[in-house]
Amino acid sequence: MTNIRDFAAAKAARRPLVVVTAYDASTAQLLADSPVDCLLVGDSAMMVIHGERDTLGATTELMALHTRAVARGAPHKFIVADLPFLAARKGVNHALDSAAQLLRAGAHAVKIEGIRGQADIIHHLVESGIPVMGHLGLTPQSVHALGGYIVQGRDSAAAAQMREDAAALVTAGAFALVLECVPATLAREITAALPIPTIGIGAGPGCDGQVLVLHDLLGLNPEFKPRFVRRFADGASLVQTGVAKFAAAVRAGKFPSAKESF
Ligand code: KIV
Repeated sequence: MTNIRDFAAAKAARRPLVVVTAYDASTAQLLADSPVDCLLVGDSAMMVIHGERDTLGATTELMALHTRAVARGAPHKFIVADLPFLAARKGVNHALDSAAQLLRAGAHAVKIEGIRGQADIIHHLVESGIPVMGHLGLTPQSVHALGGYIVQGRDSAAAAQMREDAAALVTAGAFALVLECVPATLAREITAALPIPTIGIGAGPGCDGQVLVLHDLLGLNPEFKPRFVRRFADGASLVQTGVAKFAAAVRAGKFPSAKESF
């Protein structure tokens, strides 16, 4: 199983890290023997699984439920779970309790969006034995403050702030950093400057690794096609064709057969 030392080793060896999201046991089981380094139980579950318009409805309890399912399905994979909206903003004890619930559910690390105003809390979690993955750029929990799901760090002041935030995350003890929707040149620059690996999503090829939402890379949602997603499979057709074949077989009286009956 990958551990946080392997993240550092991958960066040193220039071996790209591969991360995908997982939210449930049966999908995690499919990923258990896959070549991915890490499963991310992202709070994107709120949108991808629960159909909400943003991630703000995630709670620690819900994230723990998803994390437990993923840990059951892929017991030997390194699992990172998202600390949900505001869980790192209600004081250190709240953050500790929230992270502890996620680790007890089977996560090996937590991911926390942002750094400003919570560097001490991140540092305290790390000092308490809880590995923390940072997340900068488009931080979806701040979608309303950002004014939408838009690329971050485009102007020089925002880029300078992101460089500063990334360095602060290293000081706080983060073992890796997700960069979401960041110009490729800025992501490459941050990656070169940091001793910890960066994992990009919509941040170009210059990061130390890449993460995608599993449903996006499998093409399970034909409506959703942002620029940074590549569909590596036509999952929607696979599901629709399979279900259509089932329906046709039932209506033609061809399912179940004698062999499929007791
Ligand atoms: O919640 C999530 O799935 C994420 C990834 C998109 C990085 O944070």
